[in-house]
Amino acid sequence: METLEDLFEETLKDVYFAEKAIIKALPKMAKKTKSLELRAAFQEHVEQTKGQVERLDQVFKLLGKKSQGKECPALKGLVEETEELMSEAKSPEVMHAGLIGCAQAVEHYEIARYGTLVAWAEELDMPEAVELLQATLEEEKMTDEKLSQLASSINREAGMAEGKHGEEESKSKGKSGAAAKNAQSKKSSAQPSRKK
Ligand SMILES: [Fe+2]
Repeated sequence: METLEDLFEETLKDVYFAEKAIIKALPKMAKKTKSLELRAAFQEHVEQTKGQVERLDQVFKLLGKKSQGKECPALKGLVEETEELMSEAKSPEVMHAGLIGCAQAVEHYEIARYGTLVAWAEELDMPEAVELLQATLEEEKMTDEKLSQLASSINREAGMAEGKHGEEESKSKGKSGAAAKNAQSKKSSAQPSRKK
């Protein structure tokens, strides 16, 4: 790896691997959720992710390279953590809150990667690639935002479920826990496009 173009290509392979892994993980997450809204959000994101893979295919083409993934240990780790949650969460409410947290960790990883790729594509003077990658970056941010909105009611339900198991004290604890917003900011991309 000698040039910024090499680095750009390597990182494209990383997100290509990530997107494909996400396409496999999301249906399993959808299956584990009893919340219709959350399930719909996961299912919708599968379709969106397929479109993102197609955009990456186009970016590889612009580079004159064949689309190719390269194992991304970071994303694999996030998927493993999600699997752990799915086998360990005891109540559906806690499962839902946990799944949103996992999904947002993935979204933030992607936002960081795509933000960087947009910046590098600008530097490499590849306007078509910038446009494609920026479109995906915006989708990831919207998905993250949507998950945050879903989280506000789902976290509350998870907090109340804790109360259901008997302790009145834990009920109020759950409420204040629910008030804590899922960590996110509207401008969360690591390297926002200079165009803005
Ligand atoms: Fe994605």
